[in-house]
Amino acid sequence: MHRFVFVAAAVGALSADQARADTPQESFDRTCATCHDKDGKGNTKMGKKFGIIDLSSAAVQAKFTDEAAIKQVTEGGGEKWMPAFKNKLSPEEIPPLVAYARVLAAPAASPPADAGPAAPKK
Ligand code: HEC
Repeated sequence: MHRFVFVAAAVGALSADQARADTPQESFDRTCATCHDKDGKGNTKMGKKFGIIDLSSAAVQAKFTDEAAIKQVTEGGGEKWMPAFKNKLSPEEIPPLVAYARVLAAPAASPPADAGPAAPKK
């Protein structure tokens, strides 16, 4: 109980500082998109430099678990170098970002451009 009150107070202090809490998407776009790009494809200068993985690919996402991803975002690492975020993000902020990264590979998150009636065949 006391612990909960303390955490709530700390969170309150944080959001007072930031005016309001960012959504995972805003946070990802600001903190992670430098390398991963907003769509997760990693088509950025930094992404190319690091030989980044494609987070918009379900096949790539199938290769790691949420736990592994949370650990990597926290501690950094991986076969290719990814920086640690434990000094920039709190342990509460990281899981929603990994969950958001998962959404980037979910087909439902990005409706197909040709969602209209099927194109007539030639
Ligand atoms: C400086 C560039 C850079 C930034 C910024 C960055 N990443 Fe990465 N990320 C990488 C690289 C490089 C890899 C591939 C590492 C590897 O070999 O697994 C990676 C891999 C990942 C993976 C796959 C994890 C796994 O277990 O294979 C996830 C998930 C991920 N990043 C999420 C994030 C999130 C969330 C953020 C923002 C908090 C972020 N990244 C910011 C460079 C970056």
